[in-house]
Amino acid sequence: MCGIVGYIGFRPAQDVLIKGLSKLEYRGYDSAGIAVFDNGDLHVEKSVGRLAVLEEQIDGTIPGFLGIGHTRWATHGRPSDDNAHPHTDCSGRFVVVHNGIIENYLKLREELIAKGHTFQSETDTEVVAHLIEELYDGDLFNTTIRLLEKIEGAYALGIIARDEPDKLIAVRKASPLVIGIGEGENFIASDIPAILEYTRETYILDDGEMAVLTRGQVDVYDFAGNKIDKDIFHVTWDTVAAEKGGYEHFMIKEIHEQPKAIKDTLTSRISEDGQRVVLNEVSLTKEQMKEIDRIHIIACGTSWHAGIVGKAAIEQLTRVPVDVEIASEYRYSDPIITDKTLVIVISQSGETADTLAAMREAKRLGCARVLAITNVVGSTIAREADDVIITWAGPEISVASTKAYSTQLIALYLFACYFAQERETEGAKEVPEILNALKNLPAQAEKVLQTAPAIEAFARAYADKEDAFFIGRGLDYAVSLEGALKLKEISYIHAEAYAAGELKHGTLALIIEGVPVIALATQDHLYEKMISNIVEVKARGAYVLALAWQGDQEIGKTVDQVITIPRTLPFLAPVLAVIPLQLLAYYASVARGNDVDKPRNLAKSVTVE
Ligand code: F6R
Repeated sequence: MCGIVGYIGFRPAQDVLIKGLSKLEYRGYDSAGIAVFDNGDLHVEKSVGRLAVLEEQIDGTIPGFLGIGHTRWATHGRPSDDNAHPHTDCSGRFVVVHNGIIENYLKLREELIAKGHTFQSETDTEVVAHLIEELYDGDLFNTTIRLLEKIEGAYALGIIARDEPDKLIAVRKASPLVIGIGEGENFIASDIPAILEYTRETYILDDGEMAVLTRGQVDVYDFAGNKIDKDIFHVTWDTVAAEKGGYEHFMIKEIHEQPKAIKDTLTSRISEDGQRVVLNEVSLTKEQMKEIDRIHIIACGTSWHAGIVGKAAIEQLTRVPVDVEIASEYRYSDPIITDKTLVIVISQSGETADTLAAMREAKRLGCARVLAITNVVGSTIAREADDVIITWAGPEISVASTKAYSTQLIALYLFACYFAQERETEGAKEVPEILNALKNLPAQAEKVLQTAPAIEAFARAYADKEDAFFIGRGLDYAVSLEGALKLKEISYIHAEAYAAGELKHGTLALIIEGVPVIALATQDHLYEKMISNIVEVKARGAYVLALAWQGDQEIGKTVDQVITIPRTLPFLAPVLAVIPLQLLAYYASVARGNDVDKPRNLAKSVTVE
C-alpha cells in the first residue's frame, strides 16, 4: 500500500514527482520521499509525515531530469524518516521505490548482512537496493532480471542507477503500475491521476512485466527479458475529475457526485423500451446462467456492505441462494465451491489484496465464473475476472467510500435484474418496474442531498458524543452497517449497526439518556416492527433521528427528528437512504476537526493482506 512515481525527460524531475505524489497520497500518507539524479549523484530527500513536510524539507530545487518518488503507508517498519522510501544500497549508486511486500526479505537481508551490507531501515524494500548492488554487472536491465529471480512477493518497483542516468526501470508483480508515454519524456506511476497532467497515452503493465524508460522510448519486457508488444491505453477522463472542484473535501464532492455517478452507471444498460437490462460486458450465456445454483459475493468493508444489498436483490428476483463473504475470511475458510457456483467480487479499487486473493482461491477451487464489479478499468481484479461490470463513479479520492458504494448497488441491482431476466424467473416480471424506478434515482438522489443542512445541524449538536447506534430491519439493516462504518472511520465516534429486532438481546443495555440512535424505516413490510423497536430505545432516553419516506405522517410522533427521502421501491431504498448517513459522517468529522479525506490509520487502496 503505497504510491510510486518516476520521471525521465526534460522537466525538473522534482516538480513532476511532487505533483504526482500529491495525486497518490490517497494510497498512503505516513511518509514521502524522492530521489533525483543530480550532477552525477543520486540526491535523496525523504521524511516521515505528509508530502507537505517533505516539500518544506527540500531546500530549493534539486536540479535533474530523472527521478523516482514514493508516498508510504507503513507495512514493514513504522513510519519514520529511515523507513521512508526511496531506499538506497550501501554505496548510494542505486535507488528504489516500492509498493507491495517482499515476502522473503528476512532471508535475503540475513544473506546480504553476511556479505557485509549495512541496512538503514526496517523495511522489506531496502533489500532490493542492496541486492541490485550485489548483482550489478554494469547493465541495470540485466541486473533487474536477475533480481526478479531472487525476490518473492508483490511489488511495483521504480529503479534508477547513478551510472546509467539515461534509464528508469519499472517492474510490476501484483501491485499496480502504469506508464505514461510522453514526447521526449516518460513517466511511471501507481495510478493514472499522477501523470494525467502530462499525457493521456499509457501502458498498463500486467503482472510479470517490466519496462525500460528512456527520454525518447519505452520498451516493455517479460521477466525473462523478452520484448512485449503492448497496446496503448488512451485515458479519456480529465484531471479535473480528480480534483476537488470547489468543495472543501473530496468526500463531500464525491457525495454530491452520486446522482451523476448513478446515472452514468445506468447509462446504456437499460434497453430503449425500458423493459430489459443490457449487460453486454457479461459473457455468461443464458444456459450458463441457468446452470448456476449458488452465488458467492466476496468483498471487504463498504464493498461488502453493498454485497449484502446485492444478496437481497438477487435472492428476491431469482431465489438463487447467495452467500456474502468477507474476503479476508473467505480465502482461509475452505469454501464450498462447485462448477455451478458463480462468484461475484466487489471492489472499488480493484486492487484490494484480500479480495483479489479470495477471487483467485475461488477460481482455483473451480467456480463456474468470476464476475467483478469494480470502479477501476485495468485494475488487477478487472483483468483477472471472467466478466467485469464497471461502476462509472469516476476516481474516488476520499478514503471513505461514497459514490463507489452507491454505484456498486446500481451494478448489483442491474445484475440481479439481468440474472432474473435471463433465467426467466418469476421475479423477472418485476424487472420493468424496477428499471423504471432505477431511472428516477439520480433525480431523487439530488433531492436527498438537500437534507444536508438539517443533517449538518444534527451532526454539530451530537459531534461530542462518543457512541452512536444505527438500527434497521431488512435492507435498512444493510444500510445501517454502512452508516455506522462511515461514522466510525472519519468521525472516530464509536458506532454500531444493529438489526433492530436484535437490540433487546443484549445491546439495549447500552442505550441510555441522550445516546443518538439513527433509525431507518424504509421497509414497508417491516414498518410496524421497526416502530416498536424505536419505542424501545426512546423509552431508554435515546435521541432518535429517523430516516423515513417523504409523506410519512406517523414516525414523527415517535421520534425526535425525521429526515425524509423521496419514495422509490423499498427494494431500491438503500441507494437513497445511504446519502443522509454519508452526510452525517461527513459533517460529524468536520465538526470534530478531523482530516476528513485521510482518516487516521487508513488508506484508500488496501493492497496488503
Ligand atoms: C470504507 C472503505 C473501505 C473499502 C474496502 C474495500 O469507506 O472505503 O471499507 O470499501 O477497503 O476496498 P475496495 O472496494 O477498493 O476493494
